[in-house]
Amino acid sequence: MQTTFRGKHFITLQEWTKEEIDTLLDVSFDLKRKFAMGMETNYLKNKTAFLMFFEQSTRTRNSMEAGIAQLGGHGNFLDTSTMQVSHGEVGKDTAVILSRFGHGIACRNCFWEIGNKYLREMAKWSTVPVMNLQCDLYHPMQGIADLMTIKEKVKDTNRLKVSIIWAYATSHKKPISVPVTQALLFPRYGMEVTLAYPEGYDLPDWVIKQAKENAEKHGGSFKITHNMEEAYKDAHVVIPKNWGSWVNNQDDAVIDDLLESYKDWKCTEKMMSLADKDVMYMHALPADRGNEVEDSVIDGPHSIIYDEAENRLHTAKAVMTLTMGGK
Ligand code: CP
Repeated sequence: MQTTFRGKHFITLQEWTKEEIDTLLDVSFDLKRKFAMGMETNYLKNKTAFLMFFEQSTRTRNSMEAGIAQLGGHGNFLDTSTMQVSHGEVGKDTAVILSRFGHGIACRNCFWEIGNKYLREMAKWSTVPVMNLQCDLYHPMQGIADLMTIKEKVKDTNRLKVSIIWAYATSHKKPISVPVTQALLFPRYGMEVTLAYPEGYDLPDWVIKQAKENAEKHGGSFKITHNMEEAYKDAHVVIPKNWGSWVNNQDDAVIDDLLESYKDWKCTEKMMSLADKDVMYMHALPADRGNEVEDSVIDGPHSIIYDEAENRLHTAKAVMTLTMGGK
C-alpha cells in the first residue's frame, strides 16, 4: 500500500498512480465509516487550508469546509473577487504567501485555457499541497467521489459498462473537466467506457489518446459514439451530463445554434429502459432538470446522485488527510 503523500499536489488523478488512488479510496471508506460512527478524526488538528474559488460552488466548497472542520482544522474560504488576484496579483505570489500562512491551498478556476495553468503555476511555487477543486480540464475531487460511489455499489468494476453521455442544458456553458476526468479514470479500473456526444462536443484529442492507453494498460476499454441510444443500450452506469463545446468554440455564449440542435439529448425514462435493468444513474450536480434529465429519472429508483454527492465529503477529507497530514 502506498502511504507517502504529504505535500503531493492533487491536480489530476492522471498524476496519481493506481496504488495511490487505491489508498485514497481506502482512506475515504475509513473516514466514511468513522463519520457514521461519530468518531473523532482530528488528523489535521490546527491545520489551515485556503479554499480559493473563482466560481460558484455548493458541493465542493461545503465538502472542503465541513471536511477540514471534521478533521480538526480550519478552511479559509476565499472568494477570489475579493482577493488581489482580481487586481492582477500573480499565482506565484499568492501561492508563496498562502504556503507560509497554512498547510494546503485548494482552488477552483474553470476559465478555459487559464484554470489549469493557474493551478500549475501555484503548484510550482507552493511549499504545501495544491488541490484542484475543478479547473478547465480536470475535476479530480469529483472523479474520486464517483469512483468511490461506483465501487461501493458494485465492488468489482471490471467489465462494468459505463456510459458518459453528453446532455442538453442551458444553465451555463459548463467545463469539460468532469467527463475528461471520468474518461481518464474509469478505464484504469477495468470499466468498459463509452463516451457519447453529438458532433461538435469533442473532448481534446490528447484525452482520447490517454483514455485509450489507460484502458489498454488496465484491461478496460474506451470507445466513442455519436449515437445516444447506443450509449444507453445495456449500460450498467449512465452519466448523462452537459459540457460546453470549448474544444471547437471558445465563445462564452451559453446558447447557440449547435446547442439548440441537440435538445433531444436528454436522459428520459425511454432511454433508461434501453439500459441494464439495474442501471445506475449518476450526475455530479448541479443538474439542469427538465433539460439534461427528466425528474422521474433523477428522482427515480435508479438514481444514486445523493450517495455520489455525499461521497464528495469523504473523499475530500481523504485527499486533505493524505496530502496535508500523513507522512
Ligand atoms: N459537482 C460539483 O463540483 O458541484 P459544485 O459545483 O456545487 O461544487
